[in-house]
Amino acid sequence: MSFSSRRRNYHLVPHRKDELIGWMKSMLIHSFVLDALESTAGDTFSHFETLINEHLRVSKSQDPNDQMSRLKQIVPTVGTFHTPLPLRKAFEAYNTKYSLTKRKHICISFNEIRHILNLAQIMAFVEEGRRMRGLSMSIHDYEEEQDPNTSNESSNESFHGPKLITFDGDQTLYSDGANFESNSELAHYIYLLLRNGVFVAVVTAAGYEYVTSKYEMRLSGLLAYFKNKKLSDDDCSRFFLFGGECNYLLRLGSDYKLHAVNEHGVGGWMSSTKYLPETPSNWPEDDIKTLLDIVEESLTHSISDLKLRARILRKKRAIGLIPIKLNDQLPREGLDEVVLRVQTTLTSKDNANRVNHLPFCAFNGGNDVFVDVGNKRVGVQILQSFCDINVEETLHIGDQFLKSAGNDRAARDVCPCVWIINPDETTYILKNILRLAGVISSSHSDEDTAMQNDNHEKKVDSGDGGVTIDHDAKNVSMDIDEMARRSSLAEK
Ligand code: IMP
Ligand code: MG
Repeated sequence: MSFSSRRRNYHLVPHRKDELIGWMKSMLIHSFVLDALESTAGDTFSHFETLINEHLRVSKSQDPNDQMSRLKQIVPTVGTFHTPLPLRKAFEAYNTKYSLTKRKHICISFNEIRHILNLAQIMAFVEEGRRMRGLSMSIHDYEEEQDPNTSNESSNESFHGPKLITFDGDQTLYSDGANFESNSELAHYIYLLLRNGVFVAVVTAAGYEYVTSKYEMRLSGLLAYFKNKKLSDDDCSRFFLFGGECNYLLRLGSDYKLHAVNEHGVGGWMSSTKYLPETPSNWPEDDIKTLLDIVEESLTHSISDLKLRARILRKKRAIGLIPIKLNDQLPREGLDEVVLRVQTTLTSKDNANRVNHLPFCAFNGGNDVFVDVGNKRVGVQILQSFCDINVEETLHIGDQFLKSAGNDRAARDVCPCVWIINPDETTYILKNILRLAGVISSSHSDEDTAMQNDNHEKKVDSGDGGVTIDHDAKNVSMDIDEMARRSSLAEK
C-alpha cells in the first residue's frame, strides 16, 4: 500500500480497538496456545504492572535523559496513567473467582482484561488511602470496627477512596438518550459518596446552555432520591453537573435543583480557572464560530455523500448530526466515518492554525455524531481546580474510551479512569469503591437495610460471589461475581 493510499485509507486501521488491551490480549495468547496460562499468566500481569509503573515514572519525569518508556514503544497510542496499578493482585482475585487459566478453548477476553484493569484501578485508590493513613489497618479490620447494625452512611473522616468522582452521563448513569429515572441502587451509592465527603460531578457532552430544567429532567430520578433522603445542604453543595463537556457548570442547591455557578466575579468558575490555558474563558468567539463553520460544512457533505437520513443541529458551542426521525437508527459504520472525516478535517494543515488551539471533541454518540468545542479533559481539570482536588484523587467513570471516537478518552489525560459499558457496571464499580473504602460492608450490606426502608425500593442483589483478595496478608472483599453478571448482557 502506498503512503498516500495508506493515508487516504487511514480508516482501514481498526479504529474500534483499544491498542493497550489488544496488546495485553496478544501477550496472553502465546501461553494460552501452549496451555501454560496457569503457570505464566500471573507473571505476565506482573510484567504489565512493571511496564505501566515505568511508563508512569517516565511520563512524570523532568529528567531529559529519561527515554520514551518501553510501554510507549510497544503501544504508541497508550494513554496516561496517574497511579500504579496492582494488576497482578487484580488478576489473581479475578482468576480465583473465574478460573480463567483453566479454560482450554477460550482465551482471556477483551472484556475480562478491561474488568481486571478496572479492578486494579479501584484497588490502587484503596492502597493509596491506606498508605496515606499510615495503615497497618486493613479494610477488613476497618469493617470489623463497625457495628454491623448501624449504618455507616457518613464517615467522611475515614473515607479513603477518590475525593472527586466524575461520571459521564449517557450509557454510564442512564441508557443512551434516556433519563436517570428510578435506579435506586445507583442513586443510593451516589448518595453515600456525597454523605462521605466525596465531590461528585456529572460531566456530560449534552449541552443545553444554562437551561437547568433540561439537565434536571435527565437526572430526575437521582435528584428525587436526594430529596427523598433529605440530603444535607453541605452534601448537596458537593454535587455538580458540567454540561457541553466543559461549557456550562451547575451545582446542586439545598432545594435539590441545579443552579448555574457564576462564571465571572468572585468565585466565578471561569475567572478562577483562567490560568488553565484550555479553559473556555480563553477561547476567542471568532475561533469558535470558525470551528463550527468548518464542522458544519464537513457534516453537511457527509450527509449527502453517505446518504444518511440525518440533519444538522447547531448550538452555541456544539454541532450535531442527528437522525431526521427521532427513532431512526443511523448505521454505526456511517457515524464512525463521519467522526473520522471531521477529525481529519479539523486537524488538517489548512485548518490547524485556524482552530487547532481550541480543545474539541468529535464523537459517535451511539445514534448521533457531535462535535463539541471543549472536551472532558478541560471539564475534569476545571472541577479539580474549582474543588481543589489532585489528579490522583480523582476518578472518571465513562463508557467511551476508544481513541478514535470516544468522548471520555480525553479525561484520561487528567485523571485515573474506569471504563464501563453500561449503568449496571457503574453500579458495580461504586459498590466496590464503597466497600473498599469501608462505607458498606461485604458481609452485611448497610445499603441493603437503607434501601429496604426506601420508598424507591428495589432489591439489591448483594451477590454472594464475593472473592477474598489477599491484600498484603490482609483481606479485602470484592464482589467480582456481580461484575461479570452485570456485564454479561452487554457482551451478548
Ligand atoms: P454523554 O455520554 O453524557 O457525554 O452524552 C453524549 C450524548 O449527549 C450525545 O450522544 C448526544 O446524544 C447528547 N447531546 C445532546 N446535546 C449535545 C451536545 O451539545 N453535544 C454533545 N452531545 C449532546
Ligand atoms: Mg457516554
